[in-house]
Amino acid sequence: MKASVGLLSFLLLASFWVAAAESGKTKIPIKVYRSPTCSCCGKWVTHLKDHGFVVEDITSEEMTSIKNQYRVPAALRSCHTALVGGHVIEGHVPAEEIRELMGMKSGPLGLAVPGMPVGSPGMEMGASKDPYQVMSFDQSGSSKVFKDHPQ
Ligand code: CU
Ligand code: CU
Repeated sequence: MKASVGLLSFLLLASFWVAAAESGKTKIPIKVYRSPTCSCCGKWVTHLKDHGFVVEDITSEEMTSIKNQYRVPAALRSCHTALVGGHVIEGHVPAEEIRELMGMKSGPLGLAVPGMPVGSPGMEMGASKDPYQVMSFDQSGSSKVFKDHPQ
């Protein structure tokens, strides 16, 4: 009995510590443009909020012109488009990689997860996961692999 009470309080402490560490991270403001009818976009916004982002959530019927305006290469397009600290985020990019980009001195223009791979943040469907890659892109439209998620 004593042991289990001890274990329980340890687990409680551990979960408080994790929550504190997560909320102790710098809050990052991000502006998200998404179609009002897209449910996976809403889930991605929740993923960002859960990871310390402060989201300005903007619904728009003009997603194609927004992607054109922010130079998202056609081959890398997905559902939503976001702006963070002068960078462009396209599709279901994990919060961790956005933080990594923010920490770079001369990072690429943007990051993208093309299409909508199952298992990326906001695209969870039970246990099934597609392998996917986070791509980086620059002003000229050229792109390369930023992070591989083989899964
Ligand atoms: Cu989506
Ligand atoms: Cu979306």
